[in-house]
Amino acid sequence: MKIDILTLFPEMFDGFLNCSIIKRAQDKGLVEINIINFRDYSLDPHHKVDDTPYGGGSGMVLMVQPIYDAVMSLRHDDSKVILLTPDGIKYSQKEAYNLKNNKHLIIICGHYEGFDDRIRSIVDLEISIGDYVLTGGELPSMVLTDSIVRLIDGVIEENSHINDSFNIETNLLDYPTYTKPREFMGMKVPEVLLNGNHKEIEEYRKNESIKKTRERRSDLLEK
Ligand code: ADE
Repeated sequence: MKIDILTLFPEMFDGFLNCSIIKRAQDKGLVEINIINFRDYSLDPHHKVDDTPYGGGSGMVLMVQPIYDAVMSLRHDDSKVILLTPDGIKYSQKEAYNLKNNKHLIIICGHYEGFDDRIRSIVDLEISIGDYVLTGGELPSMVLTDSIVRLIDGVIEENSHINDSFNIETNLLDYPTYTKPREFMGMKVPEVLLNGNHKEIEEYRKNESIKKTRERRSDLLEK
């Protein structure tokens, strides 16, 4: 899979791309992630990418030309172009599974006060990561990339997906887990996890998942 991220702030991605699972996935050749500064596509002599809004109003608006040209130079028949915006459909684990099946994603990070609405004409999907407004699409693009890359075959152990919260089949929250020591400040690891009976452990975990989901996110059970 290839993911091209269009941004005005490439340096924001340094830590994200060069640590942990996302770095390993790239090193193993399981994903190629490119950070592209769409300022490089500006035809303005000063590489301007934003301007004041027609009709007045505060702030600067991202111009259509640099983003349009950047997308056109990268897109193929099998590319999916995603715009990150608080107006988009709300992101979910289900959407991460859908996006994982694409060969090529082009992700546009908006910034400043907004973008020229004509950018929407070249976009296949608009996504919001939640009902709050961030200063730009960089963090949302990392959220998308992280949640998709960890689902790619070979990136993490397959079993980890099966037990994920929001697992696509069960739609349950994850069960509680413990590690050493057996007792900490009077808090004990549940006995059932220590007895080596895998059937009992499986049953305990399933029940805990259902209990936690009922207590915290009963809306998931209704779905
Ligand atoms: N850009 C600013 N806020 C955002 C959000 N909540 N989701 C996606 N993109 C955004």
